[in-house]
Amino acid sequence: MSPKPEIKRIGVLTGGGDCPGLNAVIRAVVKTAIFHYGLEVLGFLEGYLGMVKNMKRQLQYSDASGILHRGGTILGTSNRDNPFRFPVTVRGKKTFRDVSDQAIRNLKRNKVDALIAIGGDGSLTIAYQFSQKGVPVVGIPKTIDNDLWGTDVTFGFNTALQTAMEAIDKIQTTAASHHRAMVVEVMGRYAGWIALEAGLAGGGDVILIPEIPYDIEKVCEVIKERHHYGRKSSIVVVAEGAKPKKGEVVVQKIVEDSTDPVRLGGIGYKVGNEIEKRTGVETRVTVLGHIQRGGSPTAFDRILATRYGTKAVELVVQGKFGRMVNLRGLKMEDIPLKEVQGDQRKVFPDGDLVKTARSIGVSFGD
Ligand code: F6P
Repeated sequence: MSPKPEIKRIGVLTGGGDCPGLNAVIRAVVKTAIFHYGLEVLGFLEGYLGMVKNMKRQLQYSDASGILHRGGTILGTSNRDNPFRFPVTVRGKKTFRDVSDQAIRNLKRNKVDALIAIGGDGSLTIAYQFSQKGVPVVGIPKTIDNDLWGTDVTFGFNTALQTAMEAIDKIQTTAASHHRAMVVEVMGRYAGWIALEAGLAGGGDVILIPEIPYDIEKVCEVIKERHHYGRKSSIVVVAEGAKPKKGEVVVQKIVEDSTDPVRLGGIGYKVGNEIEKRTGVETRVTVLGHIQRGGSPTAFDRILATRYGTKAVELVVQGKFGRMVNLRGLKMEDIPLKEVQGDQRKVFPDGDLVKTARSIGVSFGD
């Protein structure tokens, strides 16, 4: 299919936290656009900041070479610069302004006919807001958290999962050698996907996720019982968004300018301290942190990212805007960006994966 005559140049940006596979998407967008459809591609730098400040870079076919396996994003990214709530300083005081019209003027000035926005819920909400103002936008779902509504899987999740699983494998050896309880805190925001799947894949004994509030007594019972039956080491995988029954999440810091200002973190230490105090079992805590966001994407993420990038360009060429590409089962599809707003994709407490884990004796501390 040849592109609609009015589409000659595509803009592309990566928004929100970085994630393995971003470069693989950029590569797919650039290659498909140039090679398959004869379009030009302009990359905006540092996420939406590049659109607001007109920071950009023409992407040639050669720019897409040698980046498939690289983590991060060659375009840079930011989770702070929302054009609809843009941080500015007025007479020494920080405030927020809607500078979306300025960003749209920059699209026009650069003769960008359509925009591909690669991001998580914050960035795709902004993409939706731009589409409401008449900008032809297509979104691509990204996040290691896998918490984006409207798609079965986001790219980046599989790599984060692999990293977390490998870390648990390594921690298992110290746990066994020293007869310790080892607590591993993983990312994931308010969804327990990384904890649940890394816990399953890494042989966690207790998995604490936001969707199933825990009782610390129950967690400690599991560890004491394991000791009683001679299993003197235990692995407790804790999602950063896990919380006790009748308790709250642990907030690490507030990043005011961010599209999602709350940064979680620290629950691992809370759980670890309680375990040691209540069971007497020597306990150590490892917080995996941003290691989960880095490194080379897995084969799964490279392929998924490539499919997303290619499909997004197809939508642009077909003039299907205000939509996000998504994966349903094995099929690449697309849905309205509107449907992605406001909801997060969470673990089902009664779902198949949780049941599987329970069947093999994993405790969720409930
Ligand atoms: O959304 C991805 C993610 O890595 C979350 O898992 C985590 O809570 C957050 O971003 C950390 O954000 P930052 O890089 O701003 O600290």
